[in-house]
Amino acid sequence: MDVKFAPVIANSINFPEARIRATPGFSLTDIRTLWQSDALKQCNYTRNGRAAIGIAAQQLMQTQGSNVVLLPAYHCPALVEPFLWLGYQVRFYPVQPDLSVDANLFQRMLTADVTHCLLVRFFGFKQNIEQLITLSSAAGKVIIEDCAHGLLDFVSGVQQPDPRVAARICSINKILPTIDGGLLYMYAQPAQQPQHCGWYEELKGVAFLLKIPQLLQRVRKRRNATNTLTQDQAQPSAFKYFRPADLTSASFRHTKLIVQSSHFPDIKAKRRANYRYLVRGLAAATAGSCLYPTISDEAPYVLPFVLRDENDFQRLRMQRIQVLRWEEIADSGCVVSERYRSRLVQLPCHHKLKQADLDYIINAVLKLADKG
Ligand SMILES: Cc1ncc(COP(=O)(O)O)c(C=O)c1O
Repeated sequence: MDVKFAPVIANSINFPEARIRATPGFSLTDIRTLWQSDALKQCNYTRNGRAAIGIAAQQLMQTQGSNVVLLPAYHCPALVEPFLWLGYQVRFYPVQPDLSVDANLFQRMLTADVTHCLLVRFFGFKQNIEQLITLSSAAGKVIIEDCAHGLLDFVSGVQQPDPRVAARICSINKILPTIDGGLLYMYAQPAQQPQHCGWYEELKGVAFLLKIPQLLQRVRKRRNATNTLTQDQAQPSAFKYFRPADLTSASFRHTKLIVQSSHFPDIKAKRRANYRYLVRGLAAATAGSCLYPTISDEAPYVLPFVLRDENDFQRLRMQRIQVLRWEEIADSGCVVSERYRSRLVQLPCHHKLKQADLDYIINAVLKLADKG
């Protein structure tokens, strides 16, 4: 199947700089104490989550016959591109409004030619992933579990690996204040380990984390600071998000240090408290509703919120809140994904948000009702 991604709906260069960012910013106090558990020693640090998917998909490829992977119809292209690069045939399974998957339909898609399944814990929530693991495993498929949004639960899960799952991946900079980073846990360790970059690149990375090039660029009024880090590392790629060179490089060393200095229980507790505060504040919103009004034991990445009016996304961005949305989904015929492409927005709830920030988000969403 030829994969065609939908175009971007709203271009972020048209929005003012965010006052409330989707992910936490770095401060030197983030590396005060080394806490880290042994669990992480069993994982490989990768350049990012998509590279972790790429390494897993490469290691787990069948050498005889074709490789066919089932992917969720609701996704960001970064999750799909590694498979396309490796020459997998991809098929998309539809999602339901709560992002769970219809088990009967999924089972019917587990045909004999399917070799792999990628299962996602969207936004750090479990949906019915356990059921999908059971079905995929019973059908003899290779399972890759995508916990890109669930670093904190990923780490606690590494200590009790599920032998049915061949590889689990997560993304570090979605949760922690780093500029790169992914983690890969494979039941059978990958044959090749990603390597750290040279010290010059490392220093450039540290400077970028500390926002030094961005400040210099602002002073010089140069264009688009975010490109400076990657310009000389960049290699031509047919893909918008995935760079094959990332498969061989580990995260920055300082990313690892930030992971090892992060006190996960505190971060989890703060994110959960922020999430609950937002849910309470948004209960009266008429512009839309929280996809998951309650949380069980998970650490949320963001608060998924379904808008009634898709243009409210722009309104929130104009209020300088870095709300995210997956717009570039592949054409799959899944009606929920098509609807969510413009309406499901991700509200920040990260652990560095202050009560004033949460109130600002709540007020901005409540005010969407007054369009005048
Ligand atoms: C579900 C999911 N998987 C994988 C990825 C890739 O992670 P990264 O951005 O760290 O490459 C993303 C990124 O948006 C994602 O949302």
